[in-house]
Amino acid sequence: MKNIVILISGGGSNMAAIVRAAERERWARRFGARVAAVISNKVDAAGLGFAQGQGIATAVVPHQDYPSREAFDAALAEVVDAHAPALVVLAGFMRILTPGFVARYQGRLLNIHPSLLPAFPGLHTHRRAIEAGCRVAGVTVHQVTAELDHGPILAQAAVPVLPDDTPEALAARVLAQEHRVYPQAIANWLNETK
Ligand code: GAR
Repeated sequence: MKNIVILISGGGSNMAAIVRAAERERWARRFGARVAAVISNKVDAAGLGFAQGQGIATAVVPHQDYPSREAFDAALAEVVDAHAPALVVLAGFMRILTPGFVARYQGRLLNIHPSLLPAFPGLHTHRRAIEAGCRVAGVTVHQVTAELDHGPILAQAAVPVLPDDTPEALAARVLAQEHRVYPQAIANWLNETK
């Protein structure tokens, strides 16, 4: 069985969409894959409750308990590796990872970012897209490389930016697409590495 480990920091709606797709689309039978664990850097991440309710192993590695990014990433890698992951999925995981962590999971580490990369890497993507006068915004799923919000693009989806859009309204429109494209990109990845 190919184990998928999902890293979250908050609500976990992308994680939930992936878990639901895995169930609905029978990833275990089609790809021999399952979501084996959900790991958060925040103890109060709302997504942890959903994962537990689905019978998925959960763990918390609080980043503030570690003196450096390297120390945190080493602890995180240990917890991730306990689940022997074929694939590590960042789903709203709001920590910058060290080059060492990225190298360890090279080729099997995916991220979702709420913009049409390479536009708007980093934070506040929706506000920045509105302020720049963009007519379209969107979401990108990509392989993770050492450079933040870069790396080979696996999937994108665009949405319109509407007149008088607020960052919140645009974020909700993009998030609906995130829930569609992330499970699809992961299914493609699993199919290609079968
Ligand atoms: C999502 O919009 C995701 O794209 C974004 O955080 C949100 C998490 O929502 N990720 C980043 O900004 C990463 N740079 P969720 O916890 O409900 O999936």
